[in-house]
Amino acid sequence: KHVAVLMGGWSAEREVSMNSGLACSEALKSCGYKVTPIDVGRNIAETLSELKPDVCFNALHGRYGEDGYIQGLLEIIGIPYTHSGVLASALAMDKPVAKTLFADVGIPIADGKIFTRQDIQDGASFPKPFVVKPLNEGSSVGVTIILEDENISLQDLPWTFGEKVLIETFIPGREIQVAVMGDTALGAVEIRPLGRFYDYEAKYTAGKAEHLMPAPLDPADYEEALRLALLAHQTLGCRGVSRSDLRFDDTKDGPGKFYMLETNTQPGMTSLSLVPEIAAHSGVSFEELVRWIVEDASC
Ligand code: DAL
Ligand code: MG
Repeated sequence: KHVAVLMGGWSAEREVSMNSGLACSEALKSCGYKVTPIDVGRNIAETLSELKPDVCFNALHGRYGEDGYIQGLLEIIGIPYTHSGVLASALAMDKPVAKTLFADVGIPIADGKIFTRQDIQDGASFPKPFVVKPLNEGSSVGVTIILEDENISLQDLPWTFGEKVLIETFIPGREIQVAVMGDTALGAVEIRPLGRFYDYEAKYTAGKAEHLMPAPLDPADYEEALRLALLAHQTLGCRGVSRSDLRFDDTKDGPGKFYMLETNTQPGMTSLSLVPEIAAHSGVSFEELVRWIVEDASC
């Protein structure tokens, strides 16, 4: 099989995608596929029409690669591709839309509200502690957390978000991530960032976050994390592999509570990424993982 690995692109996560794409290309080669890595540009439709690969392995992250756009193009030119299709990609990428769907099926989410740039200029406020997020970025690009004791208002934040932002109540406690492969939740990892939170630097710099695999949760809580991630994957209609990111608030009296932050339809595949780590722990090597993803492709 001839596999074109789509990577790079022009989103804020371009560099992450290059690393995911190169790691996947190497693994696919060692599985025996013919591999053509492609740094995606605006001419991608022509490039693929000429190359005519059997499958496109989507290693893109962020806008145009993870939000349904490239998926739509691949549907139209008729090349089977990996990971989620058009609708699931678009739903998952839009955080407020995904949260509405999660709430509909009983997946707990943080309270939040969309604000326009005008709302903020007009003096809007939100109770601390809170998290400010772009509606549709990944890798924590543009995310700011303001804690209870910080004397910073929304008006003080540099505006880097387009016309709208999502502001959510900050959930204290622990960061748990779950990988889903097809109809199975593979396992959960806990992330303990050494700095303030699991930001871009902590995600992609060795030694900036501790990964506890498997997440040291009570068995019932561990199962609940897996259940919520599989339900999120199915609710959005995801295909192939996804990774759901949760908070686990165990800071209050009584049982801890999970909150779903988001489901990533194009989870990172770099050497520090969590899906490969969770898969390895459940007995699926990186080669087996990428081979499964390729064989699961469709359009
Ligand atoms: N957005 C990054 C690539 C992730 O979810 O792993
Ligand atoms: Mg994300």
